[in-house]
Parts: sequence; structure tokens; C-alpha cells
Amino acid sequence: MKAADMFDLKGEVALVTGASSGLGLRFAEVLAANGARVVLVARRAERLRALREKIEAAGGKAATVEADVLDRRAMTQAFDAAEKAFGTVSILVNNAGIAHTDRALDLSEQTWRSVLATNLDAVFFWAQEGARRMVTAGAHGSIINIASVVGFGVSKGIAAYAVAKAGVVQATKALALELASRGVRVNAIAPGWFMTEINEDFLKSEKGQDIKRGIPMGRFGESGDLDGALLLLASKAGRYMTGATILVDGGQVVQLR
Ligand SMILES: NC(=O)c1ccc[n+]([C@@H]2O[C@H](COP(=O)([O-])OP(=O)(O)OC[C@H]3O[C@@H](n4cnc5c(N)ncnc54)[C@H](OP(=O)(O)O)[C@@H]3O)[C@@H](O)[C@H]2O)c1
Repeated sequence: MKAADMFDLKGEVALVTGASSGLGLRFAEVLAANGARVVLVARRAERLRALREKIEAAGGKAATVEADVLDRRAMTQAFDAAEKAFGTVSILVNNAGIAHTDRALDLSEQTWRSVLATNLDAVFFWAQEGARRMVTAGAHGSIINIASVVGFGVSKGIAAYAVAKAGVVQATKALALELASRGVRVNAIAPGWFMTEINEDFLKSEKGQDIKRGIPMGRFGESGDLDGALLLLASKAGRYMTGATILVDGGQVVQLR
């Protein structure tokens, strides 16, 4: 098979949470550029509209749904809207996420709960809803959860975030196991550091520059560095992959520190 055919997403319907900025915005553009019709989900509707126009101007197809991933009703409405616009979602990218910088001794219960709710609970429930609909429609499907290198190792000031991301790696395996016989693959991508709105101030700080020097490849991730992993998991190229978490981190996790 030719590479272009292997990664072709024509006929697929993708839903990307957190498509209003950073990695999710790029995921949506890449999926659309490779033939998928894409449903863009986040709270900032204005940004989603701008992205939809950009995708359409490039010849792609997109729809927008303003939704908070914590709101279960908005979740079912988002899948309903996707089905109405394009049909059953066959690629779900669970990307929406938030961070925190509080040290463990200062971490409030509220911060702990909101980080876990957004970064882990919502990932599970959106995957559950997406998978139920894929199974009901008798469609194949690929669910891609966005984990992190800090699902494997930790640094200071990210306790809740790291616990949530480790949970995403395990949730990915648990869902993959139960859905493997139902035609739904569930995998994750664990990015290293990419400069986006979630961490821009921190990565530009002295501490951030220190982290950069410690990355074996000597740089943060750049726009486009996750495209390959995304397309592999979303397409026929990854058809025998499920339960996997692909690290894309410039070598960060493998080194002893
Ligand atoms: N950047 C990195 O270095 C890095 C590394 C590893 C993993 N990640 C993960 O990659 C994912 C994307 O992060 P990013 O770096 O692209 O950060 P970002 O630019 O801050 O994007 C976060 C996205 O999540 C959405 N979001 C947050 N809370 C939401 C909610 N309650 N409901 C709906 N959408 C919500 C935001 O949209 P609205 O505010 O418009 O709702 C935004 O589109 C996250 O899961 C993050 O943990 C990032």
C-alpha cells in the first residue's frame, strides 16, 4: 500500500476537544488536511469559528460546537451535533486539558479536583460516549487520548496534572482491552514539552530554559512534531494498534536524571 493511501482519512469524522488553541488546533487542521470532516469543540466559540473558516478556506470540512468538557449534557449534544453535520464520529481526539503550578503542600482541593475532572474524568467520559456511539453504529473507530511525559515521570509543582496524565495512560489501556473486539481502538500520545498557552510563561522562564537544556534533542516540541503520531493512530496505518501510548518527547523520558 502507498503511504498516501495508508494515512488517508477520507470518509472519517473526527471530533477534537480543546480545538481552540495549541495542540488541539493543530490536530484538527492535520486531520482535516488528510480528508477527515472535523468537529471542533471547546469553550471559546470565536476561536473555533476562526479555525473552521481556516480549514474551509484550505478545502476541508469543519463544524464547531461550543462545549465545556465537564458538562455531560453538552457532551451528548456535541456528539449529536457531529452526527447531524457529518455522521458518527469515527476519530475522537481527547485533547482538552488544563495545568497548574501549585506545589503539593499548597495544592487546594479545588485545584486538585478541577485538574483531575478536566484531564482525566472528561477523557474517560468522552471516550465512553464516543465508543458507545461507534459500537451502536457498527462503525470502526479510533480514540486518541492526549497524555503527557509526566504520566511517566514527574517534576515539582504538577502533582495533580501528573496523576491525571498517568490515569489517562491506564484508562487508555483499560478501554482498549474492552473495546478491542468491538472495532474501536484506543491509544494515547504522550507529548513532551510544547510551548502553548498552557505553559508559555513557565517555559520562557529560567526554569523552562533549564528544562530545555535537559531535553536530549535540545529543543521543545514544535508545531508538526505530533502530526506523525496522530496520523498513525487515526488511520489504517495503525489498524493493529490499541492500548499503546506513543511518547513524542525528544528523548526526555528515557534518560536518567
Ligand atoms: N503543551 C505541552 O507541552 C503539553 C505536553 C503534554 C501534554 N499536553 C496536553 O495537550 C493538551 C492540549 O494542551 P495545549 O498545550 O494545546 O494547551 P492549550 O493551548 O492551553 O489548549 C488547551 C485546550 O483545552 C481546552 N479546554 C480546557 N478546559 C476545557 C474545558 N473545560 N472544556 C472544553 N475545552 C477545554 C481549551 O479550550 P477553551 O479554553 O476554549 O475551552 C484549549 O483549546 C492538554 O491535554 C495538555 O495537558 C500538552
